[in-house]
Amino acid sequence: MNQVIEVLKNRRSIRRYKEEPISSEQIEQLKELMVLAPSAMNEQPWYFAFVQNFEKKYELCHLSGSEEAFYGAPLIVLAFYRKAALTPVVDTTFALSNLMNGATALGLGTCFIYNIKGLFDEHEELYSSFNIPEGYVCLGGVCVGVPDEEKEAPERKQDVFIDF
Ligand SMILES: Cc1cc2nc3c(=O)[nH]c(=O)nc-3n(C[C@H](O)[C@H](O)[C@H](O)COP(=O)(O)O)c2cc1C
Repeated sequence: MNQVIEVLKNRRSIRRYKEEPISSEQIEQLKELMVLAPSAMNEQPWYFAFVQNFEKKYELCHLSGSEEAFYGAPLIVLAFYRKAALTPVVDTTFALSNLMNGATALGLGTCFIYNIKGLFDEHEELYSSFNIPEGYVCLGGVCVGVPDEEKEAPERKQDVFIDF
């Protein structure tokens, strides 16, 4: 099967990770793929925090009230968009899509965590704690790590297309 099609079919939301760290080469590859995403007028109105540091992950887990908030993933990518840009949420979501599919291609698993946005909404001091520039808003975060589970795709609706 074509490798891109295989990756798109194999990406799953992974909620169990091995303790293995992610190599710096893999992290650089993921960053390269993320910034290749399309954005309106090529504004690239995004900013990402790559969080591997135990204390910084603990800070987020502690505020979310659960040690399992990130499923034990070795890396959490926090995503932020520049509020004043043209289509910042769409653009940043495309970058995260590249992250999730790129990670799958590298044999890694990912899971989007929307609740991270709520943490930044509730605890605005997190923006300065994570050195996020003024004017950027949290979109959410993505857990990344070596998968410790195999999953089938949850059922998909098929009656969502109309042909003319
Ligand atoms: C906007 C959005 C928010 C999500 N939030 C969470 C979340 O907070 N926790 C979680 O475990 N999964 C979360 N997910 C993952 C979805 O549950 C998952 O994509 C869906 O069940 C389909 O499964 P699949 O990704 O394996 O195809 C989120 C996905 C999206 C797109």
